[in-house]
Amino acid sequence: MNNRIFEGAHLELGDKPQSVVIAIDGPAGAGKSTVAKLLAKSLGFEFLDTGAMYRAVTYAAITRGIDLSDSQSILILASSLEIQLDGSNVTLNGIDISEAIRTPEVGQSIGAVADNVQVRALLSQWQRDWARGRCVVTEGRDQGSEVFKDSPCKIFLVASNEERAKRRQEELSKKGIDIDLVEILDQQNRRDHQDRIRPVGALRRADDAIEFHTDGLSLEQVVEQLEAIIHQRLSQPTAKINEPHHPSSLSKQSLPASEAE
Ligand code: DC
Repeated sequence: MNNRIFEGAHLELGDKPQSVVIAIDGPAGAGKSTVAKLLAKSLGFEFLDTGAMYRAVTYAAITRGIDLSDSQSILILASSLEIQLDGSNVTLNGIDISEAIRTPEVGQSIGAVADNVQVRALLSQWQRDWARGRCVVTEGRDQGSEVFKDSPCKIFLVASNEERAKRRQEELSKKGIDIDLVEILDQQNRRDHQDRIRPVGALRRADDAIEFHTDGLSLEQVVEQLEAIIHQRLSQPTAKINEPHHPSSLSKQSLPASEAE
């Protein structure tokens, strides 16, 4: 793997990490996915889209006619699925569902799956297992705050409501779907609320995450600035990053106090 970031002067070659998790969280529409994917590519890391896991379980429940309010059945279903993630490609029991999980129907039904505490525990464990021994840029809602608490580099990506809604509108327009900005804002507010009040895995910035505002910045500027931040964080001599088989054992206390915000 080309861990370009570690070829600089800050770390000896022998310190090149075998495993490190960069956790990116933030509300819907802040650009996490695009940014995380580009960062992973430029760092030579792998990309983990945790929202795709929640989407895959929701998609499976819908297509199998399982009652989404039946939390036990959803858990049994989730435990039986084989979900494979490879960049943006998602397969469910060997079938490509990369596009199928992005429909409005899946998006509107996902709350019941994301709110299911036992399903969250299962998916969180899958995420840790997936990341073990790898260099990963992961994105979601709870990656820095819950799943990878010991990640040495956490980013909380935010943008104003208006900017997020405008981006969403443009994205939909490219797909030939035209929706009024007010309606998009309304849907976004409801989604934000749902993400923030979730009893477990709620969207929140981890205490040691860097809050990064993307308003007014181009995608290239965001990626470039985040790369610099990541480089700086991972170059901290006290940031324990070379623990190939136990990424979760990385200690956030190992970060200098000045890095705590
Ligand atoms: O990032 P996304 O839009 O693909 O996520 C889909 C949904 O999954 C979103 O409503 C919140 C939920 N989700 C979550 O609860 N925890 C995560 N780590 C990722 C996504």
